[in-house]
Amino acid sequence: MHDVTLIKGDGIGPSIMDAAVAVIDASGAKIRWHEAEAGMAAFERTGTPLPDATMESIEQTRVAFKGPLTTMVGEGFRSINVELRKRYDLYANVRPAKSWNGVKTRYDNVDIVIVRENTEGLYVGLEHYLTSQKDIAESLAVVTRKGSERIVEYAFQYARDNNRKKVTVCHKANILKFTQGLFLKTAREVAAKYPDIEFDEKIVDAACMHMVMKPEQFDVVVTTNMFGDILSDLTAGLVGGLGLIPGSNIGADAALFEAVHGSAPDIAGKNIANPTAVMMAGVMMLNHLGEHAAAERMQTAIEKVIAEGVYVTPDLNPDSQYGTREMADAIIAAL
Ligand SMILES: NC(=O)c1ccc[n+]([C@@H]2O[C@H](COP(=O)([O-])OP(=O)(O)OC[C@H]3O[C@@H](n4cnc5c(N)ncnc54)[C@H](O)[C@@H]3O)[C@@H](O)[C@H]2O)c1
Repeated sequence: MHDVTLIKGDGIGPSIMDAAVAVIDASGAKIRWHEAEAGMAAFERTGTPLPDATMESIEQTRVAFKGPLTTMVGEGFRSINVELRKRYDLYANVRPAKSWNGVKTRYDNVDIVIVRENTEGLYVGLEHYLTSQKDIAESLAVVTRKGSERIVEYAFQYARDNNRKKVTVCHKANILKFTQGLFLKTAREVAAKYPDIEFDEKIVDAACMHMVMKPEQFDVVVTTNMFGDILSDLTAGLVGGLGLIPGSNIGADAALFEAVHGSAPDIAGKNIANPTAVMMAGVMMLNHLGEHAAAERMQTAIEKVIAEGVYVTPDLNPDSQYGTREMADAIIAAL
């Protein structure tokens, strides 16, 4: 039995998380869910977007399955997602994007894993105005050798463990010679320890163009925090949209699994949100927990329902009469 903290989140969160939990429970994996709150809903009920009880639960379980959280707008509130990643030092954000049978896109051969540094860069929260009129602002990016080393090591180790052939570092060291320069230099040093894995370097703007024109050149991509955030939405677009891309946030002694997308307030409460991204995050979580057979069963069932294209949400088939709940039921039936 595995203990997992369950945070359903805001907007479309509760409906896609209910769907994902039902599928995980039907997969044969034995999970004891500990429900906890975070985000806008938690703020409205308790006065804080990240209650102590939620942190205590994660400290106990060390594994969280999380729905999207609405980022509170206004000074004084930082992103709860960024806060959770920092607090548990979840330094590796892994976001796989793979073409799906049954999802029509420009390419059918995309298989890219973005490994994003998750704790440093421009997301450290060092931002302020330089003048009292608030007409000049600055943000500081922090890159460390230790942070760069461990994320590039993670990417190469991931490539080795998952039988992947190539790691591409995406950077902007030509302009940001110190922060990005340190990241690139460290990546080269780490790459030298993995002669069995091909290593490539791309400046991030050129990488975007190459990814759109010839995505098959990319296998595992390792990059700094903000570039990883942007590139993973690009790869989402290549394979059919944000509703399909999961993410894991991995630290030395805690892990958090979620979708790449946000709380999608524009479609909340309509039973049309695609639950695939959080379900695939569930697959990643089951693999993390060593429940490989249940993970494989679950992934096969999701792939079958998407390939058939009937019981899917309208983002996958505009003629679909069905939504989030019916898609989950069909996946459970396929299991
Ligand atoms: N990890 C997280 O919790 C996370 C990630 C990104 C954004 N956010 C937050 O979510 C809120 C909304 O952000 P946003 O609108 O910029 O991005 P979003 O990802 O919520 O939505 C972007 C677009 O994609 C669509 N979309 C997203 N998920 C979908 C799904 N599962 N099925 C079908 N369509 C889907 C939405 O309808 C919308 O049109 C903001 O407060 C933002 O800060 C949270």
